[in-house]
Amino acid sequence: MNRKYRKTVIAGNWKMNQLNSGVKHFLEELKEVAPKTRNCDVVLCTPAVMIQTMVKAGRDCRVAAGGQDVSTHEKGAFTGEISADMLADIGAKYCIVGHSERREYHHETDAQVNEKAKALLSRGIAPIICVGESLDQREKDLTVSYIAYQVRAALAGIDGAQVRRCVIAYEPIWAIGTGKTATSDQAQEVCCAIRAEIRKLYGARIARAVSILYGGSMNAKNAAELLSMPDIDGGLIGGASLKPADFATIIAATAQE
Ligand code: 13P
Repeated sequence: MNRKYRKTVIAGNWKMNQLNSGVKHFLEELKEVAPKTRNCDVVLCTPAVMIQTMVKAGRDCRVAAGGQDVSTHEKGAFTGEISADMLADIGAKYCIVGHSERREYHHETDAQVNEKAKALLSRGIAPIICVGESLDQREKDLTVSYIAYQVRAALAGIDGAQVRRCVIAYEPIWAIGTGKTATSDQAQEVCCAIRAEIRKLYGARIARAVSILYGGSMNAKNAAELLSMPDIDGGLIGGASLKPADFATIIAATAQE
């Protein structure tokens, strides 16, 4: 983390878990155990049907609401889709784009990820842009070049002022939901490479202002070490964000410096 230049962000990704009827109770439990931190943005990215509840109940405990996906389209005949305008209208502050599960199961392309990020930025929502390599790519030593490509593709046509508002999440695919975490050195190496790519594209001032998160089996035990790395500014947490006590421990781990 480097709080002098950029925000620390702890974002939970609930994926397709929990129920709207359980959101308030979850936040009550979280409020009891989580430290009152002012120098970290805490976000829960929920299924769309829970966002409004999260916005209302989260005010009390400084938890922001986020979405997990957004349409590339502004509005119109796109059954089942949710626009950036709709997310902004109900108070979402963040939204994940390009999660590897969407890239894999919904065949989302880099061009769509870029369009989604632009749609969110146009409505004042911070995109959490996910990038990450497969195990095969890592074994072939393609990690850094592939991630640099994904970053360039996701940010194409986005100007520097807007890039400052983006969050990049490095999520190695082989570490998601597997219990296999990247070591802090592996995660730092790639997060540093992401910042280097942004520096190449936008210069040092913007590169140092962008928050870069690590995601992939981050949990209450390994969070402090990952967050101690200079280019890891927070986490995108799946499984451990479903348990208030674990999520609170991860939030507490940002208090170090
Ligand atoms: P896990 O923390 O369950 O590995 O999930 C990570 C993730 O995909 C967050 O977006």
